[in-house]
Amino acid sequence: MSKHSNWATLNDVEASNSPEKARRNRFSLRNAAWTLVTVGLIATGVSRYFSAQLRLPGPEGRVQPCQVHEDAKRLENFQQCAIDNLLETGLPFLEKASPINVADFEERRQRLAEALVAEEADAFVVEPGYTFKYYGNVSQPEWEVWEPEERPFLMLVRPFKDETGNIKANTTFLCPSFEAERARLLGMPFNEAIQIVPWEEHWNPYATLRESDVFSDLTRAPRLMVDEEMRDFIQRGLAYVGFEVVGLGGRVEEVRQIKSSSEVEILRAVNTGTVEAVRQMRKCLYPGLTENQIAEALDNTLRAAGLEPFFDIVLFDENASNPHGGTNGSKVLEAETFVLIDVGAHLYGYSSDICRTFFPPFFEKPSSEKEKQALAPQIIEKLNVWGIVFEAQSQSIRQFRGNQTAASVDIAARNVIDKAGYEGTFTHRVGHGIGIKAHESPYLNKGNHKTLLKTGMAFTSEPGIYLVDKFGVRHEDILLVQGQAEPELLTGSRAVGPWDP
Ligand SMILES: *[C@@H]1O[C@H](CO)[C@@H](O)[C@H](O)[C@H]1NC(C)=O
Ligand SMILES: *[C@@H]1O[C@H](CO)[C@@H](O)[C@H](O)[C@H]1NC(C)=O
Ligand SMILES: *[C@@H]1O[C@H](CO)[C@@H](O)[C@H](O)[C@H]1NC(C)=O
Ligand SMILES: *[C@@H]1O[C@H](CO)[C@@H](O)[C@H](O)[C@H]1NC(C)=O
Ligand SMILES: *[C@@H]1O[C@H](CO)[C@@H](O)[C@H](O)[C@H]1NC(C)=O
Repeated sequence: MSKHSNWATLNDVEASNSPEKARRNRFSLRNAAWTLVTVGLIATGVSRYFSAQLRLPGPEGRVQPCQVHEDAKRLENFQQCAIDNLLETGLPFLEKASPINVADFEERRQRLAEALVAEEADAFVVEPGYTFKYYGNVSQPEWEVWEPEERPFLMLVRPFKDETGNIKANTTFLCPSFEAERARLLGMPFNEAIQIVPWEEHWNPYATLRESDVFSDLTRAPRLMVDEEMRDFIQRGLAYVGFEVVGLGGRVEEVRQIKSSSEVEILRAVNTGTVEAVRQMRKCLYPGLTENQIAEALDNTLRAAGLEPFFDIVLFDENASNPHGGTNGSKVLEAETFVLIDVGAHLYGYSSDICRTFFPPFFEKPSSEKEKQALAPQIIEKLNVWGIVFEAQSQSIRQFRGNQTAASVDIAARNVIDKAGYEGTFTHRVGHGIGIKAHESPYLNKGNHKTLLKTGMAFTSEPGIYLVDKFGVRHEDILLVQGQAEPELLTGSRAVGPWDP
């Protein structure tokens, strides 16, 4: 174990009780049932920290000030231990990733133009949000820091044929007149100056667009494909002035679903890094930490590696039977606690979304099958369920091949869980696409027989078993479809066992 292991932290606080002694005592009791393990912990003196964490009242019935100070210091050491462990790896996962450049944005709009021709649409229309960020690098809060506005600011991408007959993208913005300068100041990723159709406050913006030179060549109603994030009043406004409005689908939706090599590198970096942060943090855990304290330390560990967390679900035992939690995070870590952590962070605008379920490091791993069988029944059940979910994930991963249906991935995992006798306990779909959003289409549920997987699509595989009043297990990794070859893992390495997540 590294010098930043939990033992080192224990040792800082309790000099009189050597880590070796604690280890020996615990080791000799590892076959004992739950109560005996607890007694063992008490015998090693660990329970003193445990009660310190719980802030049990002192002899006078009040929390002792020095105890509070010790708790705070120990918590701080825990976070520092996680950060140091992660930084000590040298962060190799970050090496190949770099931000999306202007050429990448040009290439996206080029693919969009080709897809629009295939879908017989005259233009694609999108307002600031995730898809606008994807094609033009402006999110909704980057355009309107205050709140989403009622004034439409739209990006239109149209396909046209250049002199050599190749399909190219032509981009125009419909923009409030007084905001045109601000739109230019955004420095959107275009090699040429951007074109703006301005509308005055007392004009109808949609009629302004319809009458502009953008669609002057067309003798029929221009056919607009609108993004899924397009607000309803804008769609109706466009339809009212004579546009034919169709929803996102087909090849156009596939543009964002199919990841480029730069996107894959970022997804690999952020997802591998997030898994690594969980593993390094785990080594520093000690009894008495709460779910909230672990989440906060993990967030700061991710930040230390340049990854910005945007959700962090830490759940112990029965609190994990609700896949997305909902309890208040005050449950306390014990030796036999099954810890479920589902966490996501951003790097260069791309998301991670991973989950691991494990025992804390101070719960001794049985060293033989015999020792394992001697564990308490509730621990054995945890081990069995961990293995079933792992097998479910393995079977789902086999389905990540070109032309398999989205449904087949879910069904493969579900079959394993059902056959193992846990039918009805896998309460959500097996996964979803991932990119600039943690959840993107296509969605992997057992009803989605229509969507076929394609090379370059990246997905989560995250089966789970949730046992109400007991515990929950979920394993989540990211897979990239590569034709008929094995999918590529974008999370570095899968979990090995509950002691090696
Ligand atoms: C895209 O926007 C981000 C800010 O959100 C910025 O850091 C990045 O440089 C921009 N990329 C390009 C190619 O302009
Ligand atoms: C794009 O479309 C606008 C409006 O129709 C036109 O003025 C402009 O020349 C076009 N740009 C290119 C590069 O074709
Ligand atoms: C958290 O919820 C539990 C009940 O599940 C309650 O006993 C406890 O007081 C709550 N703690 C906080 C800090 O709200
Ligand atoms: C979750 O943890 C809290 C402590 O934070 C505990 O009181 C509660 O019983 C646990 N279980 C559920 C289902 O809320
Ligand atoms: C899917 O099937 C089509 C038609 O059979 C084939 O051309 C294509 O290469 C397949 N795609 C993948 C990713 O295997």
